Amino acid sequence: MRHALAILISGRGSNMAAIIERAQAESWPADFCLVLANNPGAPGLQTAAEHGIPTAVLNHRDYRGRRSEFDSALAERVQSAGATLVVLAGFMRILGPGFTQPFAGRIVNIHPSLLPLYPGLNTHQRAIDAGDSVAGCTVHLVDKSLDGGRVLAQAEVPVLPGDNAHTLADRVLIQEHRLYPSVVRDLIDGRLSLEEGQTAPNRQFKQEAAK
Ligand code: GRF
Repeated sequence: MRHALAILISGRGSNMAAIIERAQAESWPADFCLVLANNPGAPGLQTAAEHGIPTAVLNHRDYRGRRSEFDSALAERVQSAGATLVVLAGFMRILGPGFTQPFAGRIVNIHPSLLPLYPGLNTHQRAIDAGDSVAGCTVHLVDKSLDGGRVLAQAEVPVLPGDNAHTLADRVLIQEHRLYPSVVRDLIDGRLSLEEGQTAPNRQFKQEAAK
């Protein structure tokens, strides 16, 4: 089956770009059917357009106090683009059941911590404050929990003396750009499955992907 990927972003879209560039370099059997941002000023929209990918904006500010309507409108846009897999890449909105239900088992996200540690925001500062010697990123299935869906793969980096949230974020981001395209490729090729009840080869895959 040829996959149709929809990527949802909110900002610069460097993970999105890493995925698109790997897909083009390796001629993945997949199409990018949509890049959608909830923020009209997201720089990643321009990057996507330069790659010839259809873009759209669904501004969450137009849905103040009507979160479930935003979720339904988003589901409609992504569905009408024909997406078979939804890739969240720095998408800074929490998705409710109006989106997660119709796409159950078909949404992945990258989070800049070694989940289950530090769901939510400010992950790098929290890792530093906790005195952690290792930080990293996680690709996981998206369900109705906040950053709580099944872990598909992780990559680690050291926390170095003198690190601040920015230096650590930069080090983690290098791994994000390696890990996320690898996981999406493996999903497309069927080496990794998002279906409930299947066991992801987490640790083994993590070591492979981090190479
Ligand atoms: C990344 O660190 C990602 O893990 C987090 O938000 C950041 C997005 O960066 N969810 P970019 O837009 O992909 O450059």
